[in-house]
Amino acid sequence: MHDPVTTLHQGAAQGPSAQGGFSAPGTPSRASGPVARLRSLRSVSLATPRSVESAEFYREVWGLTPMECDGGSTWLRGTGPEHHVLELRAAEQNALRKIAFAVGDRREVDTAARRLAEWGIEPLSGPGGLDGPGGGYGLRFPDVEGRLIELSCEVAAVTPGDPGGLPAVPRGLAHVVLNTVDIDAACDFYTQVLGMRISDWSEHQMVFLRCNSDHHSIAFNQAQWTSLNHVAYEMTSIDHFMRGIGRLKHHGQVPLWGPGRHGPGDNTFSYFADPAGLVCEYTSEVAQVEEDAWLCRTWRRTPELSDLWGTAGPPSVDVRTRMAGIPDPGHPRPERTGLPAVSRPGGGRS
Ligand SMILES: [Fe+2]
Repeated sequence: MHDPVTTLHQGAAQGPSAQGGFSAPGTPSRASGPVARLRSLRSVSLATPRSVESAEFYREVWGLTPMECDGGSTWLRGTGPEHHVLELRAAEQNALRKIAFAVGDRREVDTAARRLAEWGIEPLSGPGGLDGPGGGYGLRFPDVEGRLIELSCEVAAVTPGDPGGLPAVPRGLAHVVLNTVDIDAACDFYTQVLGMRISDWSEHQMVFLRCNSDHHSIAFNQAQWTSLNHVAYEMTSIDHFMRGIGRLKHHGQVPLWGPGRHGPGDNTFSYFADPAGLVCEYTSEVAQVEEDAWLCRTWRRTPELSDLWGTAGPPSVDVRTRMAGIPDPGHPRPERTGLPAVSRPGGGRS
């Protein structure tokens, strides 16, 4: 349908840059490969000074369902099988608190802990029982820029709610896009340590990573500082997607950008801002990857390829500013993890 490519890469090959900028923590020569086989993106935890207003927005307007509220935190689910897909936590400034991925069972969690040690990464907690709603068994550790990663299994089951029905509400998370100060280091960490595969590049500005048949569950955007770019929620069909946009319109919320359809991933998009100014997206119809047949491509960053329908136009300065966010302090990293220091705005290093 499209001829977007300027370069063709076989499989999960290196991106358009030089051969990766990842300074592996610890002693990678001892590492036996990825620490786990990630099954899916479970949930994201966001810190915000407007957690109460945001929780109301995600319930009343966005279409998620609160599962628990406790001490200023709220956990919300979609209609899919995850116990919760979003945690909102009170804090002084916007920040990404945690990204959670599913793994298969306890043995995989325990194996992940052992393999993390081979990479020179010590879990910040676990392996063991997880605190908080949904429980489960897992472990938590920092990524190369101090983001907190959780691998979990045995999280409490919930009954999927009317996924093919009338309510135009999210099924769950579709993807999280993260701003990075070093896209090669981030890409290398998530492919080499976490075992994700590269689906596509958007020049040397964005890289799209998958952990299952969805074209991407995580994407990185080269930026001036580490922060959350946006969180995307899966609508079960393009009809749900459009009716969801309609419901937001009735709440006085118009898209910051969209509706449209992206080239990389072929997914529909419509971006909004939550009460804290964080960018959230409705999406649907993401491309499905046949693992042995997929060819990684490098897309040119042209208006017709980022907006295939020609309906959305280029992103405004406002949405780009919101997607840049503010520098995220990340999770404190103990010295002993050996993770490389990360550049911060102003030239400082954490
Ligand atoms: Fe997105």
